[in-house]
Amino acid sequence: MAANWKMNNGPTSAREFMQAFLDQYPRQNDRTVLFFPPALSLAAVASAIADRRDILLGVQNVYWADQGAFTGELSVGMARDAGARVVLVGHSERRHVFGETDQQTALKCAAVERGGLIPLLCVGEVLDERDAGDAESVVVRQLHAGFAQMTQLATRDVMVAYEPVWAIGTGRTATPEDASAMHSVIRRELKSLCGDRARVTPILYGGSVNPGNAPTLMASPDIDGLLVGGASLDASSWLAVARS
Ligand code: 13P
Repeated sequence: MAANWKMNNGPTSAREFMQAFLDQYPRQNDRTVLFFPPALSLAAVASAIADRRDILLGVQNVYWADQGAFTGELSVGMARDAGARVVLVGHSERRHVFGETDQQTALKCAAVERGGLIPLLCVGEVLDERDAGDAESVVVRQLHAGFAQMTQLATRDVMVAYEPVWAIGTGRTATPEDASAMHSVIRRELKSLCGDRARVTPILYGGSVNPGNAPTLMASPDIDGLLVGGASLDASSWLAVARS
């Protein structure tokens, strides 16, 4: 169950949020919660979750070079040093607001693998693509492109999130049937990329998830978890989603 805070919650509000959340969220054995705070709030979240093995820290983006003159960017090594275990790659806002290409997501996934962290590759079609009947081909293309330069897919952990762009922040969720159908396409494609390991690769759904729709989504075949934006910004709604 992954909380993507996007550009919300600086260090002070991150600390306050984590205190409110952890007070009411005792250790769980049957699920993992992930937080993707803005990079400046990594330290606040890392220190709050210090002794919690059921909660993982992630970063929202990285650059593929190890170090150097890349003003404004973060490397995988820095993210790892700050306590991150997972890296979001190819989030729709990276693709559609910042113009990130399939080729760049490939370089990022490969850098994450090299650096020993877990990529959470985000894929999803825009509304025009869905209306044109191209949703599946877009998702399959993004999936194969994102993992194209990873060399150890059969042995390394990866995660995937299906986030239809038209459902993000719009209040419009994919039906559980539509989401589930795309997740099974993703599972099938992952088998061709990762072999047997694909059976246990977490495939998360994201896009206007809230405490009301989370249980139904979670009950749907091939939906292993949720990647949540807006509803992860309020401790009580995030608690409800994380428990669903
Ligand atoms: P919302 O939950 O706000 O629709 O955002 C989804 C998302 O982009 C999570 O990464």
